[in-house]
Amino acid sequence: MKIRIHTQETGKPTGDLFGIFFEDLNHAADGGLYPELVQNRSFEFSPIDHPDYDAMTGWQILAGTGRVRASVQYGVAVSEKNPHYLCLDIQEPGEKTGVRNDGFAGGMYLKGGEAYRFSCYAKREQDLEEPMTVALVDEDGRALVQISQILTSRWERYEMDLIPLSSAKAGHLEMYFAGRGKVYLDLVSIMPEDTYKGLPFRKDLAEALEALHPKFLRFPGGCLVHDGALDPRARDSMYRWKNTIGPIEDRPARRNNWNYNQTLGLGFYEYFLLAEAIGAKPVPVISAGYDPHHHREAPITEMWPWTRDALHLIEFANGDDQTEWGARRAAMGHPEPFGLEYLAIGNEEVGEAFFDRYKIVLDAVRRKYPDIKIIGTAGPFNAGGEFERGWARSKETNTDIVDEHYYMAPEWFLKNHDRYASYDANGPKVFLGEYASWGNTWYNALCEASYMTGLEQHADVVALAAYAPLFCNENYVNWKPDLIWFNNHEVRLTPNYEVQKQFMLNQGEETIPVSLSEFEPIVQETEEALTGDILLGTDDTTVQYTDIAVRNADTGEIRTFSDIQLGPKDRPRRLDTIHWNRYTIRVKAKRLEGQKGFCLCFARKDDDDQLKLTVGGWQNQDLILTQFTGGRGSDLSQYLFTVKPDQIYDLTIRVDGREVTVYVDQNEYQDLYIKPLIVQPLYTSCVREDKDWILKVVNVTEETQRSVIDFEGRLHMSGTRLVMRGKKEDTRVSTQEDDFTMQSGDEVAFPPMSLTILKVHERFLEK
Ligand code: AHR
Repeated sequence: MKIRIHTQETGKPTGDLFGIFFEDLNHAADGGLYPELVQNRSFEFSPIDHPDYDAMTGWQILAGTGRVRASVQYGVAVSEKNPHYLCLDIQEPGEKTGVRNDGFAGGMYLKGGEAYRFSCYAKREQDLEEPMTVALVDEDGRALVQISQILTSRWERYEMDLIPLSSAKAGHLEMYFAGRGKVYLDLVSIMPEDTYKGLPFRKDLAEALEALHPKFLRFPGGCLVHDGALDPRARDSMYRWKNTIGPIEDRPARRNNWNYNQTLGLGFYEYFLLAEAIGAKPVPVISAGYDPHHHREAPITEMWPWTRDALHLIEFANGDDQTEWGARRAAMGHPEPFGLEYLAIGNEEVGEAFFDRYKIVLDAVRRKYPDIKIIGTAGPFNAGGEFERGWARSKETNTDIVDEHYYMAPEWFLKNHDRYASYDANGPKVFLGEYASWGNTWYNALCEASYMTGLEQHADVVALAAYAPLFCNENYVNWKPDLIWFNNHEVRLTPNYEVQKQFMLNQGEETIPVSLSEFEPIVQETEEALTGDILLGTDDTTVQYTDIAVRNADTGEIRTFSDIQLGPKDRPRRLDTIHWNRYTIRVKAKRLEGQKGFCLCFARKDDDDQLKLTVGGWQNQDLILTQFTGGRGSDLSQYLFTVKPDQIYDLTIRVDGREVTVYVDQNEYQDLYIKPLIVQPLYTSCVREDKDWILKVVNVTEETQRSVIDFEGRLHMSGTRLVMRGKKEDTRVSTQEDDFTMQSGDEVAFPPMSLTILKVHERFLEK
């Protein structure tokens, strides 16, 4: 085998290729990167956020030896934007009578000897001599520190530093009130003083980001951005950046669409600060007045609030202090502009209605800020009608970069590592804004590494790429896998993280063409045709299947089956097992009850290995062909399709070898070649950074692979070598670094299941 580095060819800039994407899901912000320890600090939690939430979520009333009644009241206390506050009526004073906050996931991590800043707004019904006592207590209720403070009968802000004597992993905040009568509380906060660079970011989590050396930071979502009401004043509004800046008192609590509450304590200003602090370029994402989850759309004649938000955001980031929004930024403490270069309009919207709105926002930005690079979207699928629409509209509108998202089986990444070879380098560039293989094992990470060599090789087409999601609080899992897992006191970095980190650290300045030759591909799937079981199922619906037939296209044989009715709880019904090369499955389907549609499985070996056609999937709006490999799904292609009740649909799947064509009522929806799994013994890419050549080599096989490395005639080379290894299903990775030398023609051994990074300084490449 030979890896040849085409050193004489002109390199292509790698630009800002590898970065990160922060979305507030899995409690990545509140209860995560935002270091606030008090959950529901402003008593604003509501069932809109989560059906189990109310204004007292996270809080408990402490009767102690006294008697107290509590109520959450509504009015203008601290800010009209957060109108709820707590009223404690101390009817009988006693010891430890007051209220307690449990923090996130049942407890606060308190470090002995570290300072915590407590603050709150409070007032008493009348001026009293008896104080409020603030205590940080351990899991057994023992005080680690406590301080008392007299409160007045006016709303005032109180602040004190608390230093616990010892540590607790599940500590609490307790507040006791001596004296009789009513006490009012709002915006009760505990912030560790030891934060990342003195900024409002949990230190260990932000350090994990910095260690990646990302080129960019995309924020704040994801579906978080576009799922919500159009009115920014609505409690469940879409993410509107202007809600998220300014004093925290005035940032209105919002429903986070991932089923929890967001205080917006981390807002756009903080995200810009974070990007700057970790050395990444900011890539904010804004909505274009279109919610694909609830089909809400701003009237096309009333797009001004959305375009204005976009223009103001750019001014906020880049304007000087003579501009309205630049002055706001300066007043917040950052007179220097943030140097915004990119703006993403939309997350992964589909449908024409979005693109009409997208164009309005884009045109407005283009007119005023022609240098800003606009990122459009190709939706949440890697192929199909909506993907094509996204690309077509992006080309028509001269969008600079198109955001693609996909979460797939690891094998999909192996099969498609060269996906971007066929893209037009003269068209819009690609932002692979969200991708991951399903899992956090070393095998997942290596398959992603193989794919990243492809991204790097095609850096002339792929401008930006980010793994997703970034963070997950293990106590609040919305989505997995994730790159960084944490609880209130620990961070767990995944193998996927280690791979991302190496690619970011070794991104180089330009990508150099590399070719792999003289190798035998490892054919893991030998079958010529897509054969196996055929099953009919449902997608939470009651359906009736009639006129069911499978026809052998080579012999003309037809097998027919009796009508089938399935309810939402019924398991899929097996029709037959097919070993033909060319066949057609045909069935008429009618939805009798329910909201979604139909499922047809074919070429099925077992539940973990099959093809599945879903008609009317997700919110009854998709027609998706999914391939399951090892139990993990890859949505190969999607089209918009809605199943109507009581309508009969004529569904046809034509299989020709490995080609699948899908028709509904004789209209073609999918025409796909299902790639067999053929693995390369090695995947590789090379970049240059100043005078260093950095070669990445990925071996996803369980054998050692040997290859000559041809630096175009150089006879001798030496440098440093980093080898990361692990076991396939393991989450541990070992990393070894050493120096290496080799002569031209030497074979280099690449260990099983490894990522190797060879770095050679030009002066150690001898002719
Ligand atoms: O990363 C998780 C989600 O996946 C994002 O919110 C969304 O953009 C995608 O569908």
